[in-house]
Amino acid sequence: MIVIDGPAELSGELKVQGAKNSTLPLLAATVLCRGQTVLHNCPRLSDVDTAVRILEHLGSRCHWEEGSLVVDNSMTCCQVPPDLMRGMRSSIVFLGAIVSRCGEAELTFPGGCELGPRPIDLHLSGLRQLGAEIREEGGFLHCRAPALVGREVVLRMPSVGATENLMLAACGCVGTTVITNAAREPEVVDLQSFLNACGARVSGAGSSCVTVQGGRTLHGCTYRVMPDRIAAATYLCAAASAGGDIYLRGAEERHLATVTAALREAGCAVTADGAGIRAVCRERLRAVGPVQTAPYPGFPTDAQAVLMAALLRSRGATVFEENIFENRYRHVGELTRMGAKIRVSGRVAVVTGVERLHGAPVRCTDLRGGAALCVAALAAEGETRVSQICHIDRGYEDLVRDLRALGADAERVENTDNS
Ligand code: UD1
Repeated sequence: MIVIDGPAELSGELKVQGAKNSTLPLLAATVLCRGQTVLHNCPRLSDVDTAVRILEHLGSRCHWEEGSLVVDNSMTCCQVPPDLMRGMRSSIVFLGAIVSRCGEAELTFPGGCELGPRPIDLHLSGLRQLGAEIREEGGFLHCRAPALVGREVVLRMPSVGATENLMLAACGCVGTTVITNAAREPEVVDLQSFLNACGARVSGAGSSCVTVQGGRTLHGCTYRVMPDRIAAATYLCAAASAGGDIYLRGAEERHLATVTAALREAGCAVTADGAGIRAVCRERLRAVGPVQTAPYPGFPTDAQAVLMAALLRSRGATVFEENIFENRYRHVGELTRMGAKIRVSGRVAVVTGVERLHGAPVRCTDLRGGAALCVAALAAEGETRVSQICHIDRGYEDLVRDLRALGADAERVENTDNS
């Protein structure tokens, strides 16, 4: 568990880790590339370990050189075993890559997750439109694609994972694929840049129409993973919660516009200088206008919990509306143990600021919800013990190291009482 003794103002500088949500599709993309790929700025996370185990199972050799992951691709297998699929719901992004490279794939359904149901209908229908035959049987997905053919695929909603899966499959198609109503997230742009560095022809990422000219043989490359905008949002919210003056080297302001706008509205001075972002938070925060999560460039669902944690002691009430996932307020119950005042009704949560928070034993319910508990703990009086931190390890290289570097009293201890 993580033990945080608060409150303490934060100060100092951090380098932002590479983006988890970019690294996972890039690792899936290495399946398409003959030869060696070197990923610089690759975050060391348990989800990345899971993706590495999938690659090794498929026949690739992977090793770390300092902060870089080296993948030597050779495919000897086109199946992903159920335990690896269960280990990480987003492992479904391997489907498009494997089927494109091997002409067949066998995976299990990723199932639901801590955020609620995690449907993959858009992934499957898109792949079927490109010519894949997919049989769903007893939780398994048997996929055959002797010949994939490019065409227009219209997504019912701009799913990040489905866009990425289709981009990967489209690289193996004969002809051109156009993905309409594609997700516009920066991680989709990072995947396009990576694929092009490997010899693919992909354009349009960042807009809602992505075009892939298929049929090219891809090779490995050396590539630098983009900075993690959600980890950056977490540390900005940590400074907003605890107060202080921090600088996040490598954070990209253009990826964080809705988050920094909310923090400014709350009273933090947030500035960017091209190399990073500085946040100075000295006063008690103010409540902000409604925070409605939406696909990029809207407010990210992944930053909802950490912003909520930062606003727990604000003056006034803030309304949150979660529009992406059904089950994304599970951290609320834990935050109320620390004295927070939050009312949830369906997809809406209303946070009424309180003057003080107090430390309490709390439990992570999911990755970002877990980070939110730590953000709140920094502002709470006394000791907060955050258990079930395996969720946090999926997405943060070393949250305790980073919070300590900013002056927080935080440590990671063995949980002996199983609370
Ligand atoms: C990615 C991110 C995740 C983030 C999410 C939304 C990764 C590894 N994960 O997840 O951190 O919270 O984007 O920004 O990049 N949907 C369907 N059918 C589908 C696919 C999705 O109905 O086939 C729905 C989902 O239930 C959800 C919405 O579409 O309501 C958005 O999901 P999606 O963009 O696909 O999220 P992920 O790619 O899974």
